[in-house]
Amino acid sequence: MISVAIDGIAQQATSGERLIDVINRAGAKLPQVCYHPQLGPIQTCDTCMVEINGRLARACATTVSAGMVALTQSEKAGAAQHEAFDRILSNHVLYCTVCDNDNGNCTIHNTEKLLAIEHQGIPYHSKPYEEDHTNPFYRYDPQQCILCGRCVEACQNVEVNETLSINWEDPHPRVLWDGGSTIGESSCVSCGHCVTVCPCNALMEKSMLGHAGFLTALPKPVLSGMIDVVKAIEPDIGYGAILQLSEAESRMRESRIRRTKTVCTYCGVGCSFDIWTKDRDILKVEPLEGPTNGISTCVKGKFGWDYVNSADRLTKPLIREDGKFREASWDQALDLVARRFSEIKARNGPDSLAFISSSKCTNEESYLMQKLARAVIGTNNMDNCSRYCQAPATAGLFRTVGYGGDSGSIRDIENAGLVIIIGSNTAESHPVLATRVKSAHKLRGQKLIVSDLREHEMAKRADLFLHPEPGTDIVWLSAVSRYLLENGLANTKFLNQWVNGLDEYKKSLAPFTMEFAARTCGLSEDTLNKVAHMVVEADGVCILWAMGVTQHTMGSDTSTAISNLLLITGNYMRTGTGAYPLRGHNNVQGASDHGAMPNFLTGYQSVDDPEVRARFEARWKVQLPSTKGLDNYDMLEAVRKGTVKAMYIFGEETSLVDTNANAVCDALSQLEFFVMQDIFFSATCRFADVVLPASPSLEKEGTFTSTERRIQRLYQVFEPLQDSRPDWRIIQDIANRLGAHWQYQHPSEIYSEIASLTPMFAGVTYERLEGFKSLQWPVAPDGTDQPLLYTKQFNLPDGKARLFPVTLTDPTDQPNADFDLHLNNGNLLEQFHEGNMTYRVAGLREKTPDVFVEVSPELAKERGIQSGTWVQLTSRYGQVRVRALVTDRVRGNELFMPMNSVDSPVNRLTSSHTDLVTHTPAYKEASVHLRVLPEVGESPLPRVNSRFGHPTPQRGVEVERKWRRSDYSVPGNGLVQIQTDLEGRRNYGPTDSADHSQARRARRACRSRPCRL
Ligand code: SF4
Ligand code: SF4
Ligand code: SF4
Ligand code: FES
Repeated sequence: MISVAIDGIAQQATSGERLIDVINRAGAKLPQVCYHPQLGPIQTCDTCMVEINGRLARACATTVSAGMVALTQSEKAGAAQHEAFDRILSNHVLYCTVCDNDNGNCTIHNTEKLLAIEHQGIPYHSKPYEEDHTNPFYRYDPQQCILCGRCVEACQNVEVNETLSINWEDPHPRVLWDGGSTIGESSCVSCGHCVTVCPCNALMEKSMLGHAGFLTALPKPVLSGMIDVVKAIEPDIGYGAILQLSEAESRMRESRIRRTKTVCTYCGVGCSFDIWTKDRDILKVEPLEGPTNGISTCVKGKFGWDYVNSADRLTKPLIREDGKFREASWDQALDLVARRFSEIKARNGPDSLAFISSSKCTNEESYLMQKLARAVIGTNNMDNCSRYCQAPATAGLFRTVGYGGDSGSIRDIENAGLVIIIGSNTAESHPVLATRVKSAHKLRGQKLIVSDLREHEMAKRADLFLHPEPGTDIVWLSAVSRYLLENGLANTKFLNQWVNGLDEYKKSLAPFTMEFAARTCGLSEDTLNKVAHMVVEADGVCILWAMGVTQHTMGSDTSTAISNLLLITGNYMRTGTGAYPLRGHNNVQGASDHGAMPNFLTGYQSVDDPEVRARFEARWKVQLPSTKGLDNYDMLEAVRKGTVKAMYIFGEETSLVDTNANAVCDALSQLEFFVMQDIFFSATCRFADVVLPASPSLEKEGTFTSTERRIQRLYQVFEPLQDSRPDWRIIQDIANRLGAHWQYQHPSEIYSEIASLTPMFAGVTYERLEGFKSLQWPVAPDGTDQPLLYTKQFNLPDGKARLFPVTLTDPTDQPNADFDLHLNNGNLLEQFHEGNMTYRVAGLREKTPDVFVEVSPELAKERGIQSGTWVQLTSRYGQVRVRALVTDRVRGNELFMPMNSVDSPVNRLTSSHTDLVTHTPAYKEASVHLRVLPEVGESPLPRVNSRFGHPTPQRGVEVERKWRRSDYSVPGNGLVQIQTDLEGRRNYGPTDSADHSQARRARRACRSRPCRL
């Protein structure tokens, strides 16, 4: 710590801290238009000028040193601040009262107020550009753009989509998309970072326009007229009076705009943000304080919420009668469910019923579902959709390190020297997490290896891209491990201290020579050697993996091989290391954590452990079943055999997302009684006897657990739509009709019960999760959590990890003469899983309207296919008809289909083979025959998809290009120290005499015409 003086008052600071942060902490009022703490110093606005030892300096770009004396209000500093802001106003019209951005948080408005500028020194100059409305979610207004570059910095260095730049050399600079495209046809992925950080109304969500203010919906000519009036009277009455009016109007808005914290309902990254609403309208999503994401979102979290108010929402219970559904009252529906469950249980026993919980719903809801199954019905036939994706990763980690969760946080991934991504299209499936890897790779020298069948964005960015034969990751991983052990490159110290089972593991590696791996995987030995050396040379290795690994017959073993490799290289127990299975759904981690599994109660407490059962039995006052129940796969097998007669599923589109969909539909239609609970009449509802209308996340409270093991609260934004109800209430209603006496009035009461029964969650309380606070399990009774999972020991009996031998398993459903092409599948950025929610968002549909199959250029040439050609894909299990998209993302005879389709789901083509350990379906092992159909349509991916854009990577906003302009001069007396080296962004030494003479020349030029920059 050092001491610095801010306006004569001593302040403590950390050596190397940004001066602007110290000033802000001290409470001094310093203008700072372009500065955003999460972006770092951009240095475009010059409004943060302070005086240090008689010289002016930008506070945002200055790092403190001991004894520094800074004045924020000196005459010199004040003059420079005013001059800088005057230039900003020459690019921006203050029409706050009729502006949708005037909601108390507009940086321009607030700076104007702070500086109390009454009259503008430099007149406003319009620019020769039109507004751009070509993106479905946001628009850019160059007339209001102050060229602060925050958006560019966010796009280039936080999101790292590298779409935005500013043409500083142009007579009329503006923000450019792909160097000059329309937004709609650019590489913009609509993540919204730029809109979020824009300090004014230049970039705005379309959902805000005309909706936030009381006067902003006026027709454009009327608005323009009002703006002209304001401009005309400003010279006479000054901005003070005008601002007072707008402030009054802005305060009125507070009465009707609500800001509610919620957690994203799509992927497992766990972004959280405020959602702004007016009645039932969603005005915007505002990310800022989320512990995972800060200002970041992807297109789904930022703009993908229209499904909540969709006209398709289920709002009344439905009962099937005579083959048709009729609307029913809640009493009728719940009575029927309770009666039929009771009858079936009485006749066939409790294990004739089976329950599937939703990994989209809350922890509390999964807990109640498993409590209903176990305590009320008396069966362990309980599972959730982690069975479809993540169970093998969990199994691999249980085997080797003891906990089934990420070994650190996203911040730890950022700190790695090397990130290896295997079988994950991270930029589209976990977009915000991917931004952190992209940023570390771009700005901080992190190395990246990607192993995948497709050359997606992360693969293109990688230092080394591996394209192994399908299903062979386990081979190259094990071969690299063997090579490291044989060549004395393993971390012996770590192995000796922390790892059991080395000898047996070494023996198991016998088949995995580099030569064998090269042959099996179709990779060169040189490439594999390179992987091995990159691993040992890196200061910390994190391995990220997802469904490309887990959805194979050897999914658990490959996950184990990943953890084995990390163990032999000592890549656990510190930041920048560890195993990161990327959880797919927002709460797939939480559903399993909270007992929605056939073998575990909450916190992975085994159902066959008498001590565990005794604790739950005492609390629940029932006797619990003691043997492992059926998982999702077993349940459908049991339905086919006739031993499971009834099922209750909530928030899960089983008929589309389970593999071999035709067989799944057959099984569901054999059920004697089937209850579906969802927010839409999903494809699975077609098989139900009773359909119960549930509420999406915005209509309830509870908690989600993200891929980082981070538990976060969501708050209720809307009342449940019409007669729909939160899932936890529905489950409680059913339980009580079956004789339980549950009295939960709020999810917090459910969580208290969970915490009391579960050591892993002992210290979790709603108070500790208030607002944006979060906890990463395990959480001790005093509330101490563990962002880094293994610091003192592993979660195995003697505290040591365990190397777990794996053997070679050949993939199933291999290509042959009849089914000659390999079919892969996965997510798209703009859609989520089957698309039930995202297809109901018009803007997302505009970007990706329909499903397609990706075909390599070489296969397309061989078969006479072009983008838009209709093809029929036939597998051993079914067929679909889709349009082709020719792309070099796929290679040779490998195809790829997104998983989002109700009409042509890829799972009509997949088999019933599963991972040998967990029963996770081997979705990624499928072979098909492709028949070219005569019809040729439009390309299935429209020109407005970001894939067709051409990004313009640069190191950020590149303000030095602005400073080189002849019409730029430093405000004030021009004696500016530019001394940034914050987060490695810039390091320009003190201004030299050449700069001063350039500044003088510029100032002279400025006197003769308005200076706009
Ligand atoms: S990708 Fe598009 S929405 Fe995201 S920051 Fe860049 S320009 Fe903005
Ligand atoms: S559009 Fe970009 S450069 Fe223009 S004001 Fe907004 S953030 Fe600044
Ligand atoms: S990255 Fe995932 S959690 Fe974050 S906004 Fe996107 S979908 Fe939501
Ligand atoms: S805040 Fe804009 S230059 Fe410092």
